[in-house]
Parts: sequence; structure tokens; C-alpha cells
Amino acid sequence: MKKLFFLFLAFLLIFSNLKAGEGIWLPLLLEQMNEKEMQDMGMKITAKDIYDINNSSLKDAIVIFGGGCTGEIVSSEGLLLTNHHCGYGSIQKHSTLEHNYLDEGFWAMNRDEELPNPGLSVTFLISMEDVTEKTLEGITSEMSEDERRKKIKENSKIIKEEAIKDTHYKAVLKPFYNGNKYYLFVNEVFTDVRLVGAPPSSIGKFGGDTDNWMWPRHTGDFSVFRVYADSANNPAPYSVNNVPYQPKKHLEISLEGVEDGDFTFVFGYPGTTNEYATSYEVDNIVNKINPIRIDLRTQRLQILAAEMENDPLVRIQYSAKYAGIANGWKKMQGESKGIARNSAIEKKQDLEKSFITWANSNANNKKMYGNLIPAFETSYAQMRDYDYAFYYLIEAGLGVELFRFANSFGNLIRKSKDEKIDNEEIQKIATRQISAINSFYKDYVPSIDEKVCAKMLSAYSSDLSAEFQPAILIELNKKYKGDFNSYAAKLMKKSIFAHKEKLIALMENYKRKDYKKLEKDMAYNFISQTLNFYRTHVQPEMSILGKETDSLQRIYMKGLMEMQKDKRFYPDANFTMRITYGNVAGYEPADGVAYKHYTTLEGIMEKENPDIYDYKVEDKLKELYKAKDYGRYADKDGKMHVGFIGTNHTTGGNSGSPVLDANGRLIGLNFDRAWEGTMSDLNYDPRYCRNITVDIRYCLFIMDKFANAGHLVDEMTIVEEK
Ligand code: ARG
Ligand code: GLU
Repeated sequence: MKKLFFLFLAFLLIFSNLKAGEGIWLPLLLEQMNEKEMQDMGMKITAKDIYDINNSSLKDAIVIFGGGCTGEIVSSEGLLLTNHHCGYGSIQKHSTLEHNYLDEGFWAMNRDEELPNPGLSVTFLISMEDVTEKTLEGITSEMSEDERRKKIKENSKIIKEEAIKDTHYKAVLKPFYNGNKYYLFVNEVFTDVRLVGAPPSSIGKFGGDTDNWMWPRHTGDFSVFRVYADSANNPAPYSVNNVPYQPKKHLEISLEGVEDGDFTFVFGYPGTTNEYATSYEVDNIVNKINPIRIDLRTQRLQILAAEMENDPLVRIQYSAKYAGIANGWKKMQGESKGIARNSAIEKKQDLEKSFITWANSNANNKKMYGNLIPAFETSYAQMRDYDYAFYYLIEAGLGVELFRFANSFGNLIRKSKDEKIDNEEIQKIATRQISAINSFYKDYVPSIDEKVCAKMLSAYSSDLSAEFQPAILIELNKKYKGDFNSYAAKLMKKSIFAHKEKLIALMENYKRKDYKKLEKDMAYNFISQTLNFYRTHVQPEMSILGKETDSLQRIYMKGLMEMQKDKRFYPDANFTMRITYGNVAGYEPADGVAYKHYTTLEGIMEKENPDIYDYKVEDKLKELYKAKDYGRYADKDGKMHVGFIGTNHTTGGNSGSPVLDANGRLIGLNFDRAWEGTMSDLNYDPRYCRNITVDIRYCLFIMDKFANAGHLVDEMTIVEEK
């Protein structure tokens, strides 16, 4: 018994210390939880300088850019920086073969040249607040998970309405610590956001998918936008009369650069992490699901890559799609490897063993937590088959563009069948579909999709166990004797969705009864039946299991916090504003290999290779390099620094996030993580986990010296002394 006690004590000691760099912290709690440590690590400002509800603070310069990135305001006239890969969609939409801004870059030389982007928004945080008590009002431990959810939803609705009454603000309420806490966020959303500048992809995406998720890195991953407001400085839809937004705060920029060990912090919107997941869940993700998704994506990517190689137009049309598929594909591979290398599953099992010991140490705990770990095991074992079914649907079924496109006509079909909807409304929807058709076809090549379709359906049909396959797939397999090539060929010939002109003609003269043509179309038929099967045979059980694991995880989280009383717990990322801090540091990716903490322009010249699309270097950049014409953007060592890495605990969504120095000044834009550390979403390890930053001096150098857009730099607040 005594031995056990000592083991337990030793365990508490080990686990009560967070690893340096780990943590995705709430700005609201910074003063109480992190300020001292941050200052001990070198920070010279206070938590209040970062987040202060009553005065303007750094947080007023940090925004959600679009749907999944971070941006920051860098001038008193609403100028905004984010990553090139975050602005990519907008840059691509403005690109044609004649004006290929992806290839050539784009720079507005005056305000009139700035380009509007319908659909793009920028979100500022007005305030955040702990609303746990109000959200959980009326919740009892006897309630079922469904009752609990229903009550929380009702409470949330009232809290949100209350918070934004008589304002133009928007409210978001989210669970933290797996539903043990709730926070309310009040936001202000601007929708007139214009493209101001983007380097050519050979800079903004240098290294492309070859270097993606990897260090050493040389990507100038930035783009420039501007937020516009109405004359009262309020959000307004696009109008020529709008004026540049005047922010409460904009970031100052430092040209000092970084040294090994320097304190840095990253301020932004990390999307999702799952640090408190059990070994069972992590095993499902990295050993069961990731391998399937990786394989299906490999097949799609091979097809796209070959087509893009052969045709410059296809390269433009498919580059964003390719990058999207490849990004997750590579991340999953790094994650699975990292978890194995780190023995993360074994470590989680050890923690679970200790949890069981603790849970059985007294009657109270036993009642609350005694059965928790075995319950996880059962749930995740049951979940596995449903996960497979889900990911085959997502990666294989919905991996076919035509199916997704056909499915987007579902609304028109449903409304056409509904007697209560009048003809006028139906006409409106049909007319709207015409612009959707045009934008889909701008980047769509049926012959490519045909190949993808054949591959994906054949994998769907042969790899997934029959009871989880939609009946239509089983039928097709029989009908075409397993030859999905001939199915795909016929699909492209017969489906109206694969024929732009015909489809547009149909929409132009759309009559209510035309829904029948759409509904019995081969593509629509396949995807609607497949989704139906999913809704009736997969989703119900999956949702029950999902609620079960959510509830287990909430109780587990609570238990962990009780068991490790001295540990500072941070809530998992959930796309709310957070801070992570660490130090500039290189790392050792493998035995015998050491990486430095920074890269320079020399590396770009070393990587240059005209045969590899990702390693193209512009002549102008070579000239600047030869002349060492770096101006005030050069490092003390005389070189042009391009990127650096640190131990900040970042994740997807942190793209475009400002990386700030000890004085809270902007020193770079976060854009990636190092491959050996991509398991940090499930298990952070300071030995390998590094966030990758493009040095702000490189961004300014490109704007100023490369693009002759120095007027943008002039607009910013540059601080040259320490
Ligand atoms: N890996 C980074 C992220 O997750 C960058 C992605 C864009 N770059 C690319 N080469 N695909 O968003
Ligand atoms: N590139 C990622 C993003 O879009 C950031 C890198 C990461 O996942 O850490 O947010």
C-alpha cells in the first residue's frame, strides 16, 4: 500500500508540471493563470496590455479572418495581415489566365484598386465572459444527455439574446473543458473586406505542398487585406461609399528579429485540439481512421497531380482543391507517426491506470468515476465501424465533386415538391443556381472527376464492410460487375450536372415539375440515396455513441482536474480567441540531425529548381538577393531572414496569427507546424512541437523592395529600437 502511495505521489509530481510551451490559454484568465510565468520567461508587458475589457488592448487588433483563419490589424486605416494560404481563395477568385494573381501576385497601388470579396468577413471580439452558472441553470445530475443538451440550448439562447440586445453585435456561446465551463463571446463582424496585396505563389506558397508541414521552411506566407466600414465606422455590406475602418488598436511592428530562446507568444483562433482524449480515442484516430483517410486521399491526389502537371489551366482550377486535400493528408501522416514515436497511447494508458486507482480510492470517487475508463473502452470499440462508414462517405462518396454539386440542388428539388412554396420563390432559387453553376464550372473538369469517381467508388465498394454500404452502391457494383470505370463514364455522359449548358438552360426555364429530371439524374440519385442510407443507418447510432462519449469525456475532465489539483489545466482549442507562449528554439527531428531556429533567403536560392513547380524563384528576387538589397529589413547578421520556429502550442486556425515579442510587437505570422510535432493536437511534446512563422521583415521586404508597394509599409507603425 505504501509503495502504491509513493507511486501515486511521484505520478502527481510528474503530471502536475505542464511542459514548457504547452497550453492554449484564455486571454480572460491570463492575469490569474499565466502572467507570472510569461514574465519569468521574458515577457515585458502585462496581461492587461494583452487583454483588457475596459481599455483598448492587443486583443482589439486580432480578428477571425474568413471562416477558419486569424488575421491582425496593422494600421490605423484597417490594413490587415493574414497568411497567403488564408487569402488564397479570394486571390484565386480574382484570377484568370489573363490576370493570374496567383502566379503574378497582386498589389493595389491605391485604395481604388483594392478588390472586394463577397462572402469574406472579418470578426472582432468585443468581449468575453464566463457564463457557466447561467448556462447550467436548472441542470441536474439525473438528467439524460438529451435533456441536458436541450436545457443548455434554451439557456444559451436567452443569454445570447440578452447580450446583444439593441446592438449590431453577434453572440457566440461555447463549452470549455468538455462542457464543464461555458463562455460567451460578443463579436462585431465586418463584411466589406478588400484584397490589397498578395505576393506571387512562388513566394507566398514557396515550397508548396512539397514543404508543407515541414521545417526548414522558406514560405512568404502572407497576404494583405483592408477592412472597410460605413461613415460611422460600423460594419456595412460592400459599397463604394465605404471608408477604411478605424480600429481601436493596431499592432506595432518590430524589425529586431529573434534570437534563440527569445520569448514569443501567439494570439489567435486555434480550431480544435483533443489533449484530454483517452487512449481508446487516440487509438481510433491514429491507427484506424487516419490510415483509411490517408489512403483514399492518396488516390485522389495522384489523379489531380498528373492532370495539373499537364495543363496550366487545370493547375489554376485545381490548385486550391489540391492544396486542401493534401494539407490534411500530410498532417494525418505526421500525427500518426508522432503519436507512435512518442508512445503517446502508452502514456495515456498509464494515466488511465492511475485514474482508475484514484477513482477507487474512496467511495465518493468510486460512485462518480469508478466505471468511467471501461465505459470509454466499450464506446470507442462500438464507434469504430460507424467511423469507418462516416469517413468512406466523406472521403470517397463526397470526394467526388459531381456528387457534392448535385447534392447542392437538393433545396430546389425539395421546394419544388412542396405545394406551400409559391412559384416565384422557386424561380428565385433556380436563378440563384445559375451563378452557382457558373462558379462551380470555373474550376471543374468532368474528365478529371470521372477518374476520381471510378477510384473512389471502387474503394468504397470493396474496402468497407457490406452492412455499412449504401444499397445503391451494392446495386451498382452488381450492375457494373465491379467495373466502376464504366459507371463513371456513363455518369459523366448521362448526368445533367456534368453538362453545364444543358443545366443552365434547364435553370433558365425552370418549371416546378422539372424537379423530376433532377431527382432521377444519375448523380443526384446516387448521392441522395447514399446520404439517406447514412441518415438512417449510420448517423442515429453514431449520434447516440457521440453523446455517450461526450458525457464520459466531460466527467473524465472533471475527474482529472480533481485528481491533479495542482495542475494548471487549459481548455482544448475550440476556435475561440487564445494565447499560447513559448520560446524560439530549434529541435532535433531525428537521431543525429539538428535543426536551427531560423531560415534565410539563401535557402530559397539553394532550393531553387526550375523542374519543380514548388521551387520556382522570381528573377526579381534573385536580383535583390545578389545585390543584398535588403534595406532596413536585413538581420543584424546582414542576411534576409525568412522564417523561424518556436515552442508555441498552435493548431489549425492559428494560421495568420500574429507572433509577438516580449514587448507585444509583431515579429511574424504563424502559418504552420513542423511535421514531427503535428501530433500536438492530441499530445503536445516540447521536444518536437514547433510552430512555424514567416518573419515579418521578410513580408515587409517583399512588399517594399520586391513589389514596390512601400506605401503599405509606410502605413504601418514600425518600431526600430528594442
Ligand atoms: N499546413 C498549413 C495549414 O495547415 C498550411 C497549408 C497551406 N499550404 C499548403 N502548401 N497547402 O494550414
Ligand atoms: N496552417 C494551419 C492553419 O491553417 C496552421 C498550422 C497548424 O495547424 O498548426 O491554421
